[in-house]
Amino acid sequence: MKIQKVNLDYVLGVNSELPKTEKPEFVLAGRSNVGKSSFINAFINRKAYARTSSTPGKTRTINFYNINDAFYLVDLPGYGYAATGPVEQEKWARMINRYFDRSQQIEEVIQLIDIRHDPTALDLEMFRYITSATGYEPIVILTKLDKIKRSQVKKQIETIRKALNATADCTMIAFSAESKQGLDEIYRIFDTVLDTNQLT
Ligand code: GTP
Ligand code: MG
Repeated sequence: MKIQKVNLDYVLGVNSELPKTEKPEFVLAGRSNVGKSSFINAFINRKAYARTSSTPGKTRTINFYNINDAFYLVDLPGYGYAATGPVEQEKWARMINRYFDRSQQIEEVIQLIDIRHDPTALDLEMFRYITSATGYEPIVILTKLDKIKRSQVKKQIETIRKALNATADCTMIAFSAESKQGLDEIYRIFDTVLDTNQLT
């Protein structure tokens, strides 16, 4: 995977119409602050193309990043961000449902989970939701790898796999947006998916 061109094609608010897209979509889901936007920046090799913040709730739109005119990385707003209030959260839940329901282009769903902790109740709910709404088992990216000791990595991956009740072939990749560990493997997966489906 070589990143040649990136463009933020669509930014959807909570009431926006869904765009009629024609490229395969790789959707990123994960709780607020888990590192979705940081993942995108690492993936596209830019420092701050996607806005990141240590304050949860930075991304409050659905962002479609057009990569190489070949596919979209779709950044969903983080779930579990309470400060917006229950009404706003409910609206977003409906918008995200609508997106999963209507999009014909979803190729893979990638769920980001913090490698340091057990999955939260919302992480578990999202994992199950993705499986039922898209029919795909999500690819799981375990973020903030640089924040745990190397000796803990294997154990954490297995703990999280168990908690999710994920099958042995559910792909899980430990990743750091700081050190870029895991990125080559992620590129390989994208390449394989795009090649297999002759999408490029
Ligand atoms: P929302 O937009 O609120 O949904 O959050 P997000 O999932 O997009 O998270 P974001 O990328 O903004 O990252 C949240 C915080 O975690 C920021 O302070 C990042 O710098 C930090 N962060 C993200 N990934 C990593 C990582 O791999 N390592 C370290 N050390 N920090 C990270
Ligand atoms: Mg974000």
